[in-house]
Amino acid sequence: MTSIRTLGAHVGETVTLSAWLTDKSGKGKIQFLKLRDGSGFVQATVFKGDVSEDVFEAAKRLTQEQAVTVTGEVRADERAPGGVELSVRGLSPISENHAEYPITPKEHGIEFLLDQRHLWLRHRRPWAVMRVRDCVQRSIVQFFHQEGFVRFDAPFFTPNAAEGTTELFEIDLFGEDKAYLSQTGQLHAEAGAFAFGKVYTFGPTFRAEKSKTRRHLLEFWMVEPEVAPGNHASNMDLQERFVSFLVRRVLEECRAELDLLGRDVSKLKGAAEGNYPRVTYTEALEIIRKHIGEGDLPPNVQSDVQPVEWGDDLGAPHETILGHHFDRPVMIEKYPAAIKAFYMQPDPADPKVALCDDMIAPEGYGEIIGGSERIHDYELLKSRIEHEGLPLDAFDWYLDLRRMGSVPHAGFGMGLERVIAWITGIDHIREAIPFPRMLTRMKP
Ligand code: 4AD
Ligand code: MG
Repeated sequence: MTSIRTLGAHVGETVTLSAWLTDKSGKGKIQFLKLRDGSGFVQATVFKGDVSEDVFEAAKRLTQEQAVTVTGEVRADERAPGGVELSVRGLSPISENHAEYPITPKEHGIEFLLDQRHLWLRHRRPWAVMRVRDCVQRSIVQFFHQEGFVRFDAPFFTPNAAEGTTELFEIDLFGEDKAYLSQTGQLHAEAGAFAFGKVYTFGPTFRAEKSKTRRHLLEFWMVEPEVAPGNHASNMDLQERFVSFLVRRVLEECRAELDLLGRDVSKLKGAAEGNYPRVTYTEALEIIRKHIGEGDLPPNVQSDVQPVEWGDDLGAPHETILGHHFDRPVMIEKYPAAIKAFYMQPDPADPKVALCDDMIAPEGYGEIIGGSERIHDYELLKSRIEHEGLPLDAFDWYLDLRRMGSVPHAGFGMGLERVIAWITGIDHIREAIPFPRMLTRMKP
């Protein structure tokens, strides 16, 4: 058996492959079969004169999503996607006829397609996005391995909040106690960093986000490196090396998938190069103010958008304006400490701001990374936990890390689906994961 993906190496040869029919056209003496085998898509042509009467009739009877074994000659064809076509010599169905297959070649609405996600995954667009996802996941592992990190798994049940208590999914532990679904692996990764120096967690993350946006899922995948010793500057350097590596890997490996999705890859050039600009939160407010003042707004930002007052968080439209201002991801650093997580190290030069940064993707994809240097001083961290009204007893183990061999350390979290949505150019994060989980969707 040959796979469709490798057909380019078999031009002029006769090959056999197993595939599913995605569409069919033709009349009289010719049938065009559109085939997929999971590795790719190809058109197979059946000429009445080339095959037996039985084979030609079998081809005519095939229905969408029926599985078939096809033998044919590989012909080069510049117009065809992948550059090849198949001239069929023999063919036999290997599954039943399914007249009821719901996703017909006509246009369908997105909600219908998401209801049919278990079948829609077979189609070109989800197929291409999921292959990019696979490439990004492999490249994440490759990057951290070559940088000397140890993969370190954080638990999914956690005893405490870390990123704000409102977004927690609570779990009842047999009526005795409570646990939460993890909204970050970071705190446990910090324990890992003191054991292994450089670690990363990579797994599903849960947030009870009640807002319906194009950027939020209830269940998403996050990769969280943590380095001890480490600081704010080395953390931003790592983010830039990491994201530019991922973009380069996808451009190298997934050009066919990006072409199929109609992605303008010239827009990824800056991201692949590196040299990401770094601006402070305060400078970012000025950039936003200027764009609003001059009416120079990206198309998806409403004209009545307001500037941000110092001390307020950036909203999605503000991130879109910042993303639009630069031709590659930008790192916004030193946000007001009051709007960031309790564990972030204050800037010694100006304790009102934290030694943190968010990386904003271009083209309106918003925040793809959040990271910071962590408070390493025991008393300061304890007072921050108390100040936030968090239960000290849930954090005793976390405070231990500051009592024994504590050093400045830093890390960040990157949302996998946001990065995939940006790289592939899809407009909603729900298509970046096989089975999205949202306020309005738990099935299939
Ligand atoms: O900025 P966040 O909340 O950072 C943390 O959780 C830190 N503990 C990370 C760390 O320093 N180790 O989340 C990190 C990233 C965001 O930048 C975003 O890309 C993604 O996670 N993210 C989401 N992605 C999809 N759906 C959601 N509901 C998301 N919430 C955050
Ligand atoms: Mg964040």
